[in-house]
Amino acid sequence: MGTPILAPSMLAADHTRLAEEIKGVEGAGCSWLHVDIMDGHFVPNLTFGPQIVADLRPKTELFLDVHLMLDNPQDFVELFVKAGADQVTIHVEPEYDISACLSKIRDLGAKCGVVLNPSTSVSAVEPYLSEVDIVLAMTVQPGFGGQSFQEGVLAKTAQLAAWRQERGHNFRIEVDGGINADNAPLCRKAGVDTFVAGTAFFKSSDRTLFRKNIETLD
Ligand code: DX5
Ligand code: ZN
Repeated sequence: MGTPILAPSMLAADHTRLAEEIKGVEGAGCSWLHVDIMDGHFVPNLTFGPQIVADLRPKTELFLDVHLMLDNPQDFVELFVKAGADQVTIHVEPEYDISACLSKIRDLGAKCGVVLNPSTSVSAVEPYLSEVDIVLAMTVQPGFGGQSFQEGVLAKTAQLAAWRQERGHNFRIEVDGGINADNAPLCRKAGVDTFVAGTAFFKSSDRTLFRKNIETLD
């Protein structure tokens, strides 16, 4: 199981002060930043485009973990990798050639991963496990920050961890949605090594302590 990593989600930052907010993420000792891209179709909300990633790229060394919540991710992965994404994750629910899209991300030089919604069976990501650097199991229905963690999703992360061990894969296992200091240990026990936190991180009174609490989970 990988060393735990906290990936603060920029969605919960003050969008009028993004550069300062990102300095705050670095100041807390974080190494990753999670960037949520929404299209208003796959999810009922809109967020950022590739220009944000391009503008942030020269200002930070943070590993940019770009989560595409799009109906047609294949049309956008190149833009996001060229803008400076270190990793791009794509959902398995829309109809498109997922393997081809993963290859495209890798060929462009970024890490790649698949994402599944809370109601999507873990078997939907099984065909891609040898092709990915990370599998993201959503612990809320995507679209909005500040929702409640769905503990039932942990059966899927435990299954992913079992497959990883049995089959010799080395993808990371990420959760996203309602993650906080109370439920992160449960996630860790269910095989999770990568923790996205929006609200809990940005509202925390001591972000360094929050990061340490996550990144020192056994
Ligand atoms: C939800 C996004 C999440 C969101 C998490 O659609 O994918 O990354 O920012 O926010 P919190 O941690 O507030 O649930
Ligand atoms: Zn996300």
